[in-house]
Amino acid sequence: MRKLWIDTDTASDDAVALLMALREPSVQVLGISVVMGNVSLEQAVKNALISVERAGTYAPPVYAGASKPLYRSTDFAVVCHGVDGLSDRGYPDAKLQAKGQNAMEAMLRCARENPGEVELVTLGPLTNVAAAAFMDPEGFKLFKSITIMGGALRMPGNWSPVAEFNIIIDPEAAEAVFHAGVPVILAPFEICTGDSLFAQEDRDRLAAASPTGAFAVDCNLVLIEYGKRLGLNGLCLADPAAMAVVLWPQIVQEKQETYLCVETAGKYTTGMVIYDYIDHLHRPKNGTVIQRIDGKAFKERTIRCLS
Ligand code: RIB
Ligand code: CA
Repeated sequence: MRKLWIDTDTASDDAVALLMALREPSVQVLGISVVMGNVSLEQAVKNALISVERAGTYAPPVYAGASKPLYRSTDFAVVCHGVDGLSDRGYPDAKLQAKGQNAMEAMLRCARENPGEVELVTLGPLTNVAAAAFMDPEGFKLFKSITIMGGALRMPGNWSPVAEFNIIIDPEAAEAVFHAGVPVILAPFEICTGDSLFAQEDRDRLAAASPTGAFAVDCNLVLIEYGKRLGLNGLCLADPAAMAVVLWPQIVQEKQETYLCVETAGKYTTGMVIYDYIDHLHRPKNGTVIQRIDGKAFKERTIRCLS
C-alpha cells in the first residue's frame, strides 16, 4: 500500500484532489497539512475537513501550518474559487476537528516513522514544506519523493506573465524545497489544460456519478466561470491533475529529468520556475517535469474514482 502525505491550501480544486486520494484504494493518506494560499489558513482548514468528510471513506489527521509566506505578504485567490474557496455554496462545517497547529512537526514525524516510504504531494504554496525542511533537514530527506503542483513552464503564468500561483505566493519556499535533497516531480499548470479540461459533458458525467461527484462539480462553479474569462473551454483542475499523476502514473505520456530552480529576485520574473533541461547552468538534476498526460484517461479515472 503506497503512503501519501498531502499539503494543501484547500480550495475547490484541492478539494477534488483530496477526494481522489481518499477514495483511491491503492494508497493510504497518512496525514494532511494545511497552508494559506487560495484562502486564509483558517478557511483552508475548514475546507480540508469538509473535503475529508465528503470523501466518505476514512479521516486522516488534519494539521494547520503556515498562515503567511516565509518572507512576503500574500493575497488570496478569491477570484478563482470564491470568498470561502468552495464557490460560496454555504456548505456546513465538518463535524471533524483538526488535530492542531503543528503541521511541520507532524509531517516530519510521519517521514521519520516511515523512512523512505512516504510520498509527499503538495497542492499549494510550499511554505509548510520548506519550514519542515529547515526544521529537520535529515528527517525531511526521509520522504520518498515530493510531487508538486506548481509552475507554468510551456505556457504563460496564471498569476503573473511567467509565474504560477503556488510558486509565486512563496518563491523562497519553492526554491528551498527544490534544493532540499528529496526528488521533485513537478506537475505544471499546463497538464490540466488542453484535453485535460473538464468540458460540460465531463462535468455532467462527474456530477451524475455520485453525491461526491456532484460536490466536486458544485464546489468548482466559480472556477468554471473564471476559466471562461481566461478563454478556457472547460474546467481546469490543476491539483487533481497533479494528484492523478501520483495515483495513476501510467497516464504520464512525456516527462523530462532536469535541474529546477525558482527566480526570487526578478523585477518581472519573481516566481518563475527555471527548467534548465539544456543544462546551461551545469547543475545536477534535482527533478522530473511532467510535460504531458493522457487527458482523457485523467478524466475517466477521476470520474470512476469519485463514482
Ligand atoms: O495555480 C493553480 C494552483 O494554485 C492550484 O493548486 C490552486 O488550488 C491554487 O492553489
Ligand atoms: Ca491548491
